[in-house]
Amino acid sequence: MSKTIALAASLAMLLCTTVHAAQPGTSADRPWLNPALSPDARAKAAIAAMTLDEKLQLVFGYSDQAMTDLAKVPDDIVSPELKRYVVTHQVKGSAGFVPGIPRLGIPDQTQTDASLGVRNSFIPSTALPSSLATAASFDPAVPLAGGKMIGAEARATGHNTMLSGGVNLAREPRNGRNFEYTGEDPLLAGTMAGALIEGIQSNHIISTIKHYAVNDQETLRTSLDVTISAEAMRQSDLLAFELAIEKSSPGSVMCSYNLINGRWGCENDYLLNKVLKHDWAYKGFVMSDWGAVHSTVDAANDGLDQHTGFCCVTDKPWFAPPAMKAALASGAIPQKRLDDMVERILWAMFAKGPVDYPVKITPIDYAAHEAVSQKAAEDSLTLLKNEGNLLPLRGVKSIAVIGGHADKGVLAGAGSSDVTPLGGDRKIGGHSYLPSPPLDALKRELPKAKIAFDAGTDHAAAAALAAKSDVAIVFVTRHNSEGSEASLIMVDNQDDLVAAVAKANPKTIVVAETGGAIYMPWVDQVPAILEAFYPGIRGGTAIARVLTGKVNPSGHLPISFPVSAEQLARPDIAGLGEPDGTPAAVSYDEGAAIGYKWYDMKGYKPLFAFGHGLSYTDFAFSNLAAQPDGKSIKVSFAIRNVGKRQGKGVGQVYVAPADWHKAGWEAPKRLGAFAKADLKPKQSKTFDLTIDPRLLATYEAAENNWHIKAGAYRLLLGDSSDAQMQSVEVTLPDSVWSASSTADNPGTPKTGN
Ligand code: BGC
Repeated sequence: MSKTIALAASLAMLLCTTVHAAQPGTSADRPWLNPALSPDARAKAAIAAMTLDEKLQLVFGYSDQAMTDLAKVPDDIVSPELKRYVVTHQVKGSAGFVPGIPRLGIPDQTQTDASLGVRNSFIPSTALPSSLATAASFDPAVPLAGGKMIGAEARATGHNTMLSGGVNLAREPRNGRNFEYTGEDPLLAGTMAGALIEGIQSNHIISTIKHYAVNDQETLRTSLDVTISAEAMRQSDLLAFELAIEKSSPGSVMCSYNLINGRWGCENDYLLNKVLKHDWAYKGFVMSDWGAVHSTVDAANDGLDQHTGFCCVTDKPWFAPPAMKAALASGAIPQKRLDDMVERILWAMFAKGPVDYPVKITPIDYAAHEAVSQKAAEDSLTLLKNEGNLLPLRGVKSIAVIGGHADKGVLAGAGSSDVTPLGGDRKIGGHSYLPSPPLDALKRELPKAKIAFDAGTDHAAAAALAAKSDVAIVFVTRHNSEGSEASLIMVDNQDDLVAAVAKANPKTIVVAETGGAIYMPWVDQVPAILEAFYPGIRGGTAIARVLTGKVNPSGHLPISFPVSAEQLARPDIAGLGEPDGTPAAVSYDEGAAIGYKWYDMKGYKPLFAFGHGLSYTDFAFSNLAAQPDGKSIKVSFAIRNVGKRQGKGVGQVYVAPADWHKAGWEAPKRLGAFAKADLKPKQSKTFDLTIDPRLLATYEAAENNWHIKAGAYRLLLGDSSDAQMQSVEVTLPDSVWSASSTADNPGTPKTGN
């Protein structure tokens, strides 16, 4: 810490202490309100002062439905006083609420979704691009800035807890929630979700990483049993969580709806007690997803700390006072377990800020926040194809803009992450469009061009407009939502539309607004494709600025795009078409071979590979060097802009054992490190990066160890997982270390609590 920062910190501490000491009863008799004490000491002191009823109040939270339906809950489950308190204190329209303990100065927990911004239909908020889009930036500064912005809006709207930080891997490319997550690779996903959480929590509020774990399809999400080996989980899905938690220390973790190896996500001794709390030494609390609790005793003993989102008729009051008191009285839940649950919740409230920095309603500078979202989109839009340098548009006199409701706005994902923008969103066919029409933005960027719009419903009319224009831009959209799956086949005959327009005008550009990957049967018929994902509140502006060259695109795919269903790990989604709640099972036999690892392992050539993304300039990669550094590898390389305009290049370092079968890897190579550089022509930048030892190792379940097998490992440098890459080789000795950071194991990274 620099001297100035240290001085400022101790001054701030002194001031806070003074403020609290000045309040009646906040000195020696209320030590938990003393910010000079550690969060652990404060949590313990508060617990010592709490009654049983107060403790039980903190482990049971209510959904937004409580506002209207809590009266239906019998008074012996939730007392009339508590009902009154909940209904009068909950932020109207927010996702959830946990009553605080005013007597002790412990504030309410006011919870809001989600990763894209504050979700509240009564409060306008700024929507970031989807998390998958920001992952495409390959630049953690982007989700960090986004997290700071949405966290500030959470504070300003009275919320001290965000349910943000989705990091489930895109194991199933059809998962309807992939847009809320950060891609298919554990390093990229963990880094980007961690940066978002760090940004959110910089506002002195709690963020919630979710959905723990292996919650990778929406179909039958509340009844699906996922079978997967511990080895595969630790090397993929759980590694993404582990990296994000280390980076950002979220105050809470949301356990998921599904079962994992026969145990519910929110009642899972292995995932919650063994991995999260023991091996990763996680100090925050586990909150349930809404309606994901199935028991009182087993859930509490198997690691759930807070039954959240309860209400009111269908959900059972598992952690409500009567059930908890009975379990405590019989000894089925030990008193010390209840204290641990409460201590974890309080620890998060002291460590992350809600107690010392109470949230209050303040005005929001929407224009400034929208600028943050626009920049995120501009850093994330991914140019997939650009034959003959058709883009950026230059000197075009007439443009046909076709389809995708490009005259109305840009598509957004649906479900609990759906943000209501200023002025309301535009619902078209039941789907939310954010009011940033690409058509208007193109007209602003190219005032001299003749730009006409065709809705794209009549293909012949669209083709006729395209035929008489210099270029055609077809917008295709794919709606994704929580609670359902997204086929990768485009709906509403959009594939035929693209083909018809491309036939009429060879200079056809496709802009895709999708929640994830799609098939592109027309890929060879169009010279240019821009993947915009769900680009957020200024998405239309960002798209126009990329198409016209104001912004040089620099996104790279955080997921692989398959050619067709034959390339997927599973032909069908388990249970698709069955009614909700039907028991179903899926076996993730591909293990940790997700995304590009699966394609590499099978020898498939995807439509567009993980990591792929073009620029309007060219980059050269050089000076690749690597050397072992303890269990890690230190790697350095340079990126040079060898083109004619400023742009951002992304260097990706993959690691490939000389013999991946012998090394025990799930696939021939893994992403080991990445970096992005903003470079003027002829400028270059050198990076020195360290490859995390877990990315070189396999997990050995019987011993709970990470193990790097001795041998030769190649480091491959390129700008896509399927690029021609330069390589260097290092030889690593055999290394074995505990996967538990609580073991006597100095070499293992500790969770960043
Ligand atoms: C979703 C969570 C969300 C919660 C509260 C659930 O249906 O799965 O991601 O945070 O609702 O809105």
